[in-house]
Amino acid sequence: MTKKTYTDYFFDEPAYNTHDGGYVPLVEPDTPENKLVVPELLKPDKDTATDTYYTVEALAGETQLLPGAKTKTWGYNTSLLGKAILFEKGKMIHIDLKNSLPELTTFHWHGLNVPGPYVDGGCHAPVYPGETKHIDFKVIQPAATLWLHAHPCPSTAEQVWHGLAAPVIVKDVEEAKLPFPRNYGVDDIPVVLQDRKFHEDNQWDYNADYDPDGVQGPTAMINGTVNSYFDVTTQRVRLRFLDGANRREWRLHFSDDLVFTQIASDGGILPEPVKFTHLMLTCAERAEVIVDFKDYKPGSEVTLYSDDVPIMKFKVHEFKPDNVELPDHLVDINNPEATPDAPIHHIVMSGMDEEVMMDDKKFGMQRIDSTQQLGNVEYWDVTNTNDMEGGMVHPYHMHGTQFLVISRNGHEPYPNEHGYKDTVGVNPGETVRLKVWFDYAGVFMYHCHIIEHEDGGMMAQLEVIDPEHPQTYKLMDHHTLMKAFAEERGIKVEDLHLAGMTSYEKMNMDM
Ligand code: C2O
Ligand code: CU
Ligand code: CU
Repeated sequence: MTKKTYTDYFFDEPAYNTHDGGYVPLVEPDTPENKLVVPELLKPDKDTATDTYYTVEALAGETQLLPGAKTKTWGYNTSLLGKAILFEKGKMIHIDLKNSLPELTTFHWHGLNVPGPYVDGGCHAPVYPGETKHIDFKVIQPAATLWLHAHPCPSTAEQVWHGLAAPVIVKDVEEAKLPFPRNYGVDDIPVVLQDRKFHEDNQWDYNADYDPDGVQGPTAMINGTVNSYFDVTTQRVRLRFLDGANRREWRLHFSDDLVFTQIASDGGILPEPVKFTHLMLTCAERAEVIVDFKDYKPGSEVTLYSDDVPIMKFKVHEFKPDNVELPDHLVDINNPEATPDAPIHHIVMSGMDEEVMMDDKKFGMQRIDSTQQLGNVEYWDVTNTNDMEGGMVHPYHMHGTQFLVISRNGHEPYPNEHGYKDTVGVNPGETVRLKVWFDYAGVFMYHCHIIEHEDGGMMAQLEVIDPEHPQTYKLMDHHTLMKAFAEERGIKVEDLHLAGMTSYEKMNMDM
């Protein structure tokens, strides 16, 4: 393994969200410790050698997060967040998407290479309350940590905030051969990083906390656990970090500056393991890391921090020695040649607060902003022009693809950006070059993953065209969705308040 240990966050410090006027710093809770909730694995309805059948149900419930009153929360197959969903590469997956919520939602498979826009589950695939829709797809991508979240524009942010976010784990034979911990729940756990503010009676209040640059709260919540600890019973533990926050960047490091090894990024295993003491994740990014507790005696405690606030503890127990050296090379990354003469896409993310835009426009659900031919490998140059007071990092995400990060302002990408990604933090004044290809035709969204920015219009969509099989798609429009939301709430459209609406109104733009 590369000897070098990286000790910085790489991103531009003046652009950290901590410099924004509306920043809400994390505060260590004074409530009792709780054992970290490890999401249960969702049980398939049926599983054969070739096919797996699931029912994924979005539901409203209550969760004991703090002493006293339970918090009203939403989740998939459980009251908060979701059971973890396992896919095996090569299998056909069949899912009933059941909406038991009082309002419409969509089921978006973030990071999954599936056809758009319906299977992908973005804003064009609403499931209305009481309805069940069915999707089928084949898993064709390598082992990775992905996630499922709601995506009903312009109310994605509020639904994710209510709890609609679940880990998705893809497994394959390549990953199975590598010397990684993979005993789920024991030495291999999802770590979903979120933050919330608790109001009266331990409730969340999205509107009270609303900020067009992204809603934050002072309390870290990990896998839906406040003030959490994990019992370490093996020398090595694999953490599948997911930044599931609406807006917060997590700047992670352990006590004693404990060195950890990143083995995977958003879309799968890295070509080489990379050692870090510090790691920054922007919204929607994933990083799988292995933490080695060999230097800790039973009874000791290791703390995970974001900035300088403790967010989780690891209580070390007796474990068997397990001194595994990771190989220098983990997997081969497919890096296809760019299609000669293909156009280079130029994408500009600009603004903050209500002024956020993508290519000087706000999102239009019925407008196709770019096209790419199926089979082509094309460069996408993504620029963040925001230089207001140091600007901010916009996490750029594309549906339906795992791309490669080629360069940052012409320089090498960060050391953990040599594998597949679907979300990349773009610094102010920076152009990140991506190499992008698709496995399926369809309409796919691309946007900033600060969720209030996407709801606020920092989003666009492309059509991937298969010239041999031209297709037409029924694209929803904001008005239809807003009318449905208003009806479900028993109010007039004029009285409706959804996260993204104010951005369009303040900029005097149509949705
Ligand atoms: Cu996490 Cu439009 O996606
Ligand atoms: Cu996505
Ligand atoms: Cu943004």
